[in-house]
Amino acid sequence: MNIQEKLTNLKNILNQDLNTCISVRDLENIKIKLLSKKGSINALLEEMKKLGLEDKKKFGKEINDFKNLVTSEIQTKQDSFSAKALGEKIAKEFVDVTIPVRKTNQGTIHPLSKVRRELEEIFESMGFVIAEGPEIEDDWHCFEALNTPPHHPARQMQDTFYLPDSDDGKKMVLRTQTSSVQIREMKDNKPPFKFITLGKTFRCDSDATHTPMFHQIEGVYIDKNVTMAHLKSCLVEFCKKFFEVDQVPIIIRPSYFPFVEPAIEIDVKCQKSKSGIKIGEQYDDVMEILGAGMVHPNVLRNVGLDPEEYQGFAFGTGIERLTMLKYGIGDMRMLFEGDIRFLKHYGFKFFQ
Ligand code: PHE
Repeated sequence: MNIQEKLTNLKNILNQDLNTCISVRDLENIKIKLLSKKGSINALLEEMKKLGLEDKKKFGKEINDFKNLVTSEIQTKQDSFSAKALGEKIAKEFVDVTIPVRKTNQGTIHPLSKVRRELEEIFESMGFVIAEGPEIEDDWHCFEALNTPPHHPARQMQDTFYLPDSDDGKKMVLRTQTSSVQIREMKDNKPPFKFITLGKTFRCDSDATHTPMFHQIEGVYIDKNVTMAHLKSCLVEFCKKFFEVDQVPIIIRPSYFPFVEPAIEIDVKCQKSKSGIKIGEQYDDVMEILGAGMVHPNVLRNVGLDPEEYQGFAFGTGIERLTMLKYGIGDMRMLFEGDIRFLKHYGFKFFQ
């Protein structure tokens, strides 16, 4: 066969191959057969070297045209495969968003999650940011830095779960209070501070108003001129928003927490019933809302702040307590039993 015949032959082969080609893999084979280093086109070009100058010119052009044709045919075929694959993918993954949501198995928001979101929203609207810290904590962050050295009687207020010592010899605990995040946040950042932290806490306790794992919210505001008056107005504002009332009659009682001085607890005048709580000056009952106070100078020193320059308040309480008060839940353990009837009764819709 001479070169001319070989070229015609290759053209026929190309046409046949393209007609029978049904996959990207087939296409790849055509490419290898014709265009690769050891492919037929290169073989022809090699053979052409033996020809005279005139023939070289003639066949050189023909072979190059053929090469371009092969390249463009392969590309066209490749594009059509890609378009087909995309069409199939779209058809397979089509989701009919107009199908109505199935009524069974519809999820609800757990009351605790709902309250957690409410709390975040309220305090964020007052300019607090959200801080986080670990649930497995060392003794220093959970107690000592919070002005509660070993053997301090206040440690007995909290039934701590102790863990094995860490590799570097630190005493480890499951945090009993989110107050530990105060220390981490203040130690790692520069004042002023205005943050809340929400999360799990643990104490070895279980009855109608205590569970071994529960959630706390903690708030801290430290600057050069923060006073007890700011604390009061912040907490009154919080109660108004959280309990959705215009007037909140609060009672401030002296209390004791080692890391604040003075320490207070805040009660709200109310009437409790199964369906929830009513707040008002006319009621005789009280509910304890939270503990708070001005951050103790020792705590400020422990995080490297000068108590002569900076001062501020901290407050903290249980998220379960707030949830039970707001929604009239009698037994705290119900919050963790995962009973679907309870979730249906109290659970809240998404986007509510
Ligand atoms: N950490 C305290 C507790 O668990 C609550 C608290 C926080 C009190 C901040 C005062 C200031 O009981």
